[in-house]
Amino acid sequence: MDQTVEIKRYLKNKRQLVEKALQKHMLPASDPFKKHIEAMRYSLFAGGKRIRPILCLAAAAAVDDDPEIESALLPTACALECIHTYSLIHDDLPTMDNDALRRGKPTNHTLFGEAGALLAGDSLLTWAFDLLSQAEITSLSTEKRIAIINVIAQAAGPLGMVGGQSMDIANENKQFPFETLQTIHKNKTGALITSSIQAGAIGSGGSTNTIEKLVIYGNKIGLSFQIVDDLLNVTATTEQLGKAAGSDSNRGKATYPSFFGIEETRRQALHAVEAAKTALESFDYRADPLRALADYIYTRSN
Ligand code: IPE
Ligand code: IPE
Ligand code: MG
Ligand code: MG
Repeated sequence: MDQTVEIKRYLKNKRQLVEKALQKHMLPASDPFKKHIEAMRYSLFAGGKRIRPILCLAAAAAVDDDPEIESALLPTACALECIHTYSLIHDDLPTMDNDALRRGKPTNHTLFGEAGALLAGDSLLTWAFDLLSQAEITSLSTEKRIAIINVIAQAAGPLGMVGGQSMDIANENKQFPFETLQTIHKNKTGALITSSIQAGAIGSGGSTNTIEKLVIYGNKIGLSFQIVDDLLNVTATTEQLGKAAGSDSNRGKATYPSFFGIEETRRQALHAVEAAKTALESFDYRADPLRALADYIYTRSN
């Protein structure tokens, strides 16, 4: 079958699985914190691509495709999406990227106010760790649960995503060397993506050697993901993206296209995707979804 048809079907199936799990686990918007939880739910269910949870499940299946492992990892997949959604809510705030549109809808702060959006983000982050740590919800061993929590906490924190975001903001309207851009991308976007893959591999009992290879895959697709995000910001339309096109140059952000131009940027994104697939060479057919996801990350249009 045509590979693009197959990956589309795969993504649709896994998205449905993740949506159902998010609906099941996410708090209902009820009193006394109704409005606050509504703000959390608004962004969480605004229709993201669910790439991080899907990568977590695909990495787990590449190690062991037992359906029970997939079920056991669904709460972890949901937690990753909550952390990602929090990062988007905060990223869009007026004091950060100041964006009005996200996932094709008004940004959280546009509807719930800046304090409301800040707090919705805080709760999505905190609640994600509540979900990750509850033994009654995941059927993973305590040892695996703690290892997963540690990997995700490190990736989301000061030496990962938040560190990258702080560097991104501090360098607006500045000239800096290419290495700085690499550090920003690796951390603000790559870290959580890699940890999603690591979490899946830990959950399915991957060996140290297997996890190391998957980390290389994660680092490469994480980089490619942000390079393509930079590229689409220049080449796609706001309608296509569901977020403002052209915003990077408007905010004085240095990006891959601003360093290299469009053609060379495309080449670098493709190069990273190829390197990601090379890291999977020793894996069998069960890593095919990861291979297809790497291609999807390069060819996606939003
Ligand atoms: C956008 O992430 C922000 C980045 C880290 C580049 P996604 O492109 O995964 O956004 P959603 O979740 O599909 O909205
Ligand atoms: C977002 O990066 C990274 C995080 C939210 C951690 P960008 O600011 O480049 O992404 P978009 O273009 O707003 O989605
Ligand atoms: Mg940003
Ligand atoms: Mg942004």
